[in-house]
Amino acid sequence: MKRKKIALIGGGQIGGVLAQLAAIRQLGDVVLYDIVQDLPQGKTLDIAEASRIDGFDASVTGTNDYSDIQDSDIVIVSAGLPRKPGMSRDDLLVTNAKIMQTVAENVKKYAPNSIVIIISNPLDAMVTLFQKISGFSHNRVIGQAGVLDSSRFATFISWELGVSVKDVNAMVLGGHGDTMVPLTRYANVNGIPVLEMLERKYKDAAKAAEVMTAMVERTKMAGGEVVKLLKTGSAFYSPASAAIQMAEAIVYDEKRLLPVCAYLQGEFGVNGYYVGVPVVLGEGGAERIVEVTLNAEEQELLNNSVSAVKGLVEDMERLGL
Ligand code: APR
Repeated sequence: MKRKKIALIGGGQIGGVLAQLAAIRQLGDVVLYDIVQDLPQGKTLDIAEASRIDGFDASVTGTNDYSDIQDSDIVIVSAGLPRKPGMSRDDLLVTNAKIMQTVAENVKKYAPNSIVIIISNPLDAMVTLFQKISGFSHNRVIGQAGVLDSSRFATFISWELGVSVKDVNAMVLGGHGDTMVPLTRYANVNGIPVLEMLERKYKDAAKAAEVMTAMVERTKMAGGEVVKLLKTGSAFYSPASAAIQMAEAIVYDEKRLLPVCAYLQGEFGVNGYYVGVPVVLGEGGAERIVEVTLNAEEQELLNNSVSAVKGLVEDMERLGL
């Protein structure tokens, strides 16, 4: 059987890690595209030369020519500028929207049947724009944010409780910005609520709530924390890992239930916007949105996050994008 073809648009920090992970996990033959001459060719040559060591047969090639992504099955987009210290993801809107327009036009032209995962920020707006320009059905255009935000939240919980992160289930919904909504009530360690474990640890409900709030705040600011430390550029290992997990769910039709930036048509009381929600991911892309019962406070936090996404989309429309 023919291998899947995975196109990676953007050969920067994230694109390089994506290419390496996709090759090592044999997701398919990888084509890395960037506008900078020689950059994707250099990165993929470097990765391919480790094939004997890493034990993969998939091909990994770099290009500056969009026609090389012809008939890709999956496209992952990380083209665009990353944040600098002090910048919010939203500050990237105008620059990255212009880049996304070209990317969407070319993906539409050369890989019209692909399923597309966007990573570029501001995420929710970039996914909206890509879908609009490509005209692809909404289930085939999704965004990566929730898998990473949830992994960050789970990591902090595992550190706090001294348990393996493999046993932590935690989900973050909403837009990929400061208003994202880590669902504290549903966070658990193999079924045991995290809040309950914190209360046992501290023997004090107020202290437990305080620790949970601190983890929620750290999750919301986690991207910025990395930006501040790196000084140039933003997180790249973890966003790449997260997008590869999504691609794997699609390539192997796993039906994984993951938080994904997907198009809502009435679910969670939201109509016509891309927002992070639980989604069943399989060969059809975002196959199904799974609703969760939210209490009044959680719904208000989600509404607040949706308002931020709406604001970004309106800004884009005002700019004629
Ligand atoms: N087409 C293709 N690639 C482009 C284009 C374009 N029109 N414009 C810029 N690029 C490429 C750059 O040449 C660069 O190699 O996108 C790449 C971006 O890489 P980095 O600057 O290293 O950024 P990275 O850390 O990979 O993040 C990319 O993902 O998480 C988001 O906020 C982040 O928007 C940023 C994006």
